[in-house]
Amino acid sequence: MSEYLEGWPAGRDGSRWVTRPSNAGGIVMQSAHAESPTEATTSAEGEFTVTAARSQVSTTVAPDRTVLEALREAGVAVPSSCEVGICGTCETAVLRGCPDHRDSLLTDEERRSNQVMLVCVSRSRSAELELDL
Ligand code: FES
Repeated sequence: MSEYLEGWPAGRDGSRWVTRPSNAGGIVMQSAHAESPTEATTSAEGEFTVTAARSQVSTTVAPDRTVLEALREAGVAVPSSCEVGICGTCETAVLRGCPDHRDSLLTDEERRSNQVMLVCVSRSRSAELELDL
């Protein structure tokens, strides 16, 4: 599948499509945004901490887990529907930190503002993210 996606054109923001195994045993397609060395403050594929400020819960997001999964496992209720970054149900306000936007819904302006993120697919460029949950 990855070989097939290599031929797809890049998005307006330079993102490419990649696949990863889903937790349900299938394959999930997601956009992988091009990043300059100065944009990333941490490995977008690495572990980071997410804090649900209103719930007063912090948890670690492992490389093979989504923010949505990590928060739910920590007991934080987060609404979701598609869980592939296309519907917006899981859109969450970002209070602190720098998201690594991997959705297919937010506009370029919304991504640049870093005020919201779709927690079902997006990760973090910073070591910590604080969300309005
Ligand atoms: S659940 Fe649909 S975009 Fe996250």
